[in-house]
Amino acid sequence: MTSSLISSRNAPAKATDLHAQASPDFAVKLAETQALLQNAAAEFSPVTQASSLGAEDVVITHLINTAQLDVPVFVLETGALHTETLALLERTQAHSRAPINVFRPVPESVIQFVREKGQDAMYQSVDLRKACCGIRKMAPLARALTGQRAWITGLRQEQSNTRAEVPLLDESEVATTGLHKFNPLARWTWGDVWHYIATNQVDYNPLHDQFFPSIGCAPCTRAISLGEAFRAGRWWWEDEAAKECGLHVKK
Ligand code: ADX
Ligand code: SF4
Repeated sequence: MTSSLISSRNAPAKATDLHAQASPDFAVKLAETQALLQNAAAEFSPVTQASSLGAEDVVITHLINTAQLDVPVFVLETGALHTETLALLERTQAHSRAPINVFRPVPESVIQFVREKGQDAMYQSVDLRKACCGIRKMAPLARALTGQRAWITGLRQEQSNTRAEVPLLDESEVATTGLHKFNPLARWTWGDVWHYIATNQVDYNPLHDQFFPSIGCAPCTRAISLGEAFRAGRWWWEDEAAKECGLHVKK
């Protein structure tokens, strides 16, 4: 434990204190990321950033704003986000240079689903969980990406085995969707992400201080314990293989 953690006796440890640790080649990775974002903005317009307001995404929005890139940001506000995430959304809307566009599910679809299947349907079966993600995330995502040539995400290789091959530029869906997908933090470590946040004093979701590394909707996200995998707190009652909501599943 570092002295800064011991000295703040009653205050819980901050994620910046716990995780910030730059890789030896952080400067190279940062330059690569900045160049990729510049290229996306210059050559792939219209391009937009998908932000869950998680640690990776606040870094990318900060880079976009710092470089004054013409890249709007979109947030899928599912109607089931934590109050901490909603508060960060408001602060981001208030302070971001880049426009923050919010996409919500069709209210009638949510109400009908809850009426027929119940508010806790996601725990009953993978199919019902995916149906909820379909209404609250996938349908708004389709609207958010309409007319775009490319999108930018915070996917990192380190996040899970299924993401180990995430490339900086994913062109695998250009033929089917017409969309290029940039993953500018693909090679960043969790320590790199927090090093950037700490160094640049980026506003972040306080749930990260409560051991929520990966944050989605409130009913489907919990804190993780020491030694648990990065995404162990997402859909924790499901098998590892099922644990994607569809945003990044190949068509
Ligand atoms: S998920 O597929 O399991 O939900 P995850 O939370 O790891 O994805 O986030 C990966 C990336 O998907 C984020 O960095 C962001 O680009 C995008 N993303 C996830 N959730 C949202 C959201 N609610 N709104 C916009 N983009 C999102
Ligand atoms: Fe519904 Fe959970 Fe998917 Fe959010 S993550 S859309 S609450 S099933």
